[in-house]
Amino acid sequence: MMKAITLAALMACASTGALAQSQPWLDKTKPADERAKAAVAAMTTDEKLTLVFGFTDPDGVAKQPDDIVSPAVKADVKAHAIRGAAGYLPAIPRLNIPAQWQTDASIGVRVEGMQRTALPSSLATAASFDPAVSEAGGKMIAQEAKASGFNTFLAGGANLAREPRNGRNFEYVGEDPWLAGKMAGGLIDGIQSQHMVSTMKHFAVNDQESQRTTVDATISPEAMHQSDLLAFEFVYETGKPGSVMCSYNLVNGRWACENEYLLNKTLKLDWGFKGYVMSDWGAVHSTADAANYGLDQFTGFPCCGDRQPWFAPKVFKAALDTGEIPMARLDDMAKRILWPLFSSGVFDDPAKVAPIDFKADADVSQKAAEESLVLLKNDGNLLPLKGVKSVAMIGGHADKGVMAGGGSSGVTPVGGNAVPGLEPRTWPGPVVFMPSSPVEALKAELPKARIGYDSGDDIASAVALAKSSDVAIVFVTQFMGEGMDGTLELKGNQDALVAAVAAANPKTIVVVESGGAILMPWKDKVSAVLESFYPGIRGGSAIARILSGSVNPSGHLPISFPASNAQLAHDAIAGFGKPDGAPVHVTYDEGAAIGYKWYDVKGLKPLFAFGHGLSYTTFAVADAKATVDNGAVSVGATISNTGKVAGKGLIQVYVAPADYKAAGWEAPKRLVAFHKDAVAPGAPAAAFSQKIDPRLLATYESADNSWRIKAGTYHVLFGQASDDLPVSIDVTLPDMVWSAVHK
Ligand code: BGC
Repeated sequence: MMKAITLAALMACASTGALAQSQPWLDKTKPADERAKAAVAAMTTDEKLTLVFGFTDPDGVAKQPDDIVSPAVKADVKAHAIRGAAGYLPAIPRLNIPAQWQTDASIGVRVEGMQRTALPSSLATAASFDPAVSEAGGKMIAQEAKASGFNTFLAGGANLAREPRNGRNFEYVGEDPWLAGKMAGGLIDGIQSQHMVSTMKHFAVNDQESQRTTVDATISPEAMHQSDLLAFEFVYETGKPGSVMCSYNLVNGRWACENEYLLNKTLKLDWGFKGYVMSDWGAVHSTADAANYGLDQFTGFPCCGDRQPWFAPKVFKAALDTGEIPMARLDDMAKRILWPLFSSGVFDDPAKVAPIDFKADADVSQKAAEESLVLLKNDGNLLPLKGVKSVAMIGGHADKGVMAGGGSSGVTPVGGNAVPGLEPRTWPGPVVFMPSSPVEALKAELPKARIGYDSGDDIASAVALAKSSDVAIVFVTQFMGEGMDGTLELKGNQDALVAAVAAANPKTIVVVESGGAILMPWKDKVSAVLESFYPGIRGGSAIARILSGSVNPSGHLPISFPASNAQLAHDAIAGFGKPDGAPVHVTYDEGAAIGYKWYDVKGLKPLFAFGHGLSYTTFAVADAKATVDNGAVSVGATISNTGKVAGKGLIQVYVAPADYKAAGWEAPKRLVAFHKDAVAPGAPAAAFSQKIDPRLLATYESADNSWRIKAGTYHVLFGQASDDLPVSIDVTLPDMVWSAVHK
């Protein structure tokens, strides 16, 4: 059937066509590169400068002197910035270049007072070991962001959990570069599939929050490339973020946002990054150095850290006039900022405020949580709770909701904060509980059981309830947030509460809601432990469905859980507890031996190992293969369900050189592949095969910027956790060297 074409539509087409001729960057058929170049060529210096200086907080902007922020820009920010959001850069209407509306962060849209859907924490999602889960989450939060008027997502946190007490580990994706790369890369991929720009952040070695704006991290280039940078390199390759956010800290004596080694050399030259580097909020400390060493966009003025207007037009122009910053560099900055706006589709599919289907979005979040919760211990198969007549639920505000992390990634949940008023009330608080009560959800799961709740404030009262119930479930929480580091010990009476309940009822289960690892002095006294991290907007339902057996747990730890503080690589965190802004220094002399690698080097047995996670069924990994073709290693295996219920099994593959020191490795083994699949009992085994990224077998050599594999025997290990690798196949590799510069 022929479509009727109205006159108005024809005229619109004609005028769009004409516009695309006079403004060729509006022509969707042209490559992003060409469009960005054409737009920059049409810009005045002032217009280019509009792209490189971003704002936050319209009230703070209004107070700035007119020669720093012009009255016209103040009016624009007031009229168009989304209040309570992270950042904003004005449009250039003459050229039809849209404004940049920036929102935090990796688990959902954060705007103070705007209720949106929260995913589980990124660390929780990493425990799914399934990049498709991250991707689905990324899509969902990007749809909400677009429907809220945003086109740039400050997501993709991927700093490694080098320091287990880092307050932001919950925003990141674990301790292993390959896992982090796949999971944060998947999130970014999901976000950008919705025609938004996503960042990856915080580049780089921003591995502690104490004194984050002044701490100088010393680390060798070798160690950095085999750990923190390798994670980012994999994220970059997987998710292709349009933007990279440089961090607050210094790395080897240079601020990360003017760190030539990180930004110009590694990211832009070696990796070939074509997008733009945006600063973390207030992380800029100079004009010419920052611009010349790789920063493209100063964001978030006048917020945080160093509040000076280093990229304000007046200041930047002065540096252009003296030649300190060449005009070609400003052109490059403008082009880099525009390129992802074209390549990711922001120009052609602009954000529009629209209704949001919160129910459907919460379903996505719940599914992510159900894939991510980690069953750490389950003595005597106490879980799932089948046929129990009475359950004592204790502590953790489980009658109201589940905990979330604090700081700029904290989403105001749909339905509001379930437990308002907890400390800290101010940054990085307020402490938010997602309104998803495990108690109510378990009542729905076990309608015949008598379910009681006790707050746990009075241990004697909790013990009495536990004694009179078949099973006791204690909820413990650990609040973590941006700008703070924590301790592995639980706060308040929680350890004592668990011990007392466990003494009163041998069938005690602990559900942990934490930012990262915690110590569990009561581990041997309880029957079961379920780690839920921060499980998101439907966390209570996900927990209840796992406790009841409606869902079979399939998460595995993306971090190691230390058995004690004495096992950590650093006794104390540099600058911990000191007033903000004290210059501190940390030397990462453990190098790339992070997490399980550290435990392996030191021969330590953690409380729970990286990759550990139980199921209500059992799996067997078989048919393991490892082959070498022209130096390239491929691995494959199958996983079958040897138990009684359906579930999802995870194959983990590690490589261990016969002599790790002779191979130059930081540690005895590295994760090189993983694959998760649903398999029913008796069903054919699920198979996977994968080529191993050669960097995972190599060492980085700074002398000639290369990767190098030492000839020798390497054991390829297959199993279901880093401490459970029963199958081993040897391969022999030849000497290999290749450039670290991407082709
Ligand atoms: C955080 C970033 C965040 C930015 C904007 C900073 O304090 O470190 O992760 O994206 O604020 O809110």
